Amino acid sequence: MSERSLVQATLQLPCSVTILSARADKRQGAMTASAMFVAEIPPLIAVSVSKTFATYQLIENSKEFAINVLADSQLDLAGKFGSIHGYEVDKFKEANIATESASKIGAPLVSDCFANIECRVRSSLWEVEGNHAIYVGEVIAFKVNNKLMPMVWLNGRYFTVGTQCRV
Ligand SMILES: Cc1cc2nc3c(=O)[nH]c(=O)nc-3n(C[C@H](O)[C@H](O)[C@H](O)COP(=O)(O)O)c2cc1C
Repeated sequence: MSERSLVQATLQLPCSVTILSARADKRQGAMTASAMFVAEIPPLIAVSVSKTFATYQLIENSKEFAINVLADSQLDLAGKFGSIHGYEVDKFKEANIATESASKIGAPLVSDCFANIECRVRSSLWEVEGNHAIYVGEVIAFKVNNKLMPMVWLNGRYFTVGTQCRV
């Protein structure tokens, strides 16, 4: 099997769809990213961020980030934050995105999400193939709106989380 077709394997994992936001030295930014559960005690979540991206620099400088878990009604935000880079532009202002202050960190929270999770970086893995850094963040605050439904990204498409599976 060619290396190109093996890439398809990476798309077969259902992933969370979040806006990863950060702030450092009065600059704020955010990018679309998946986040992964790591551990319950302490509560840890991992994100993988390309070292070439603007958000990487903000996390690197602040050691904090927020994971804004998108509701299925916020599909447009995944495109807005995942298609342009924030070196020159403030994507929040450019696209007129409603934000609110976090309770424990400087990163802006995206309003009306399924969940907003505030994290402080506990550790990071730098020597990751593909030029990415993996940050493991400890959850220090969160809020959730159970009236909303989050999305899942699978094989390049977005799905809503709906029916609970039962045996
Ligand atoms: C659904 C989706 C998921 C993504 N997940 C990641 C991810 O986990 N890690 C990453 O480095 N980039 C990911 N990206 C790409 C970044 O969001 C994108 O390159 C963004 O423009 C980077 O912005 P920045 O340079 O302002 O940080 C994803 C994009 C989409 C659309």
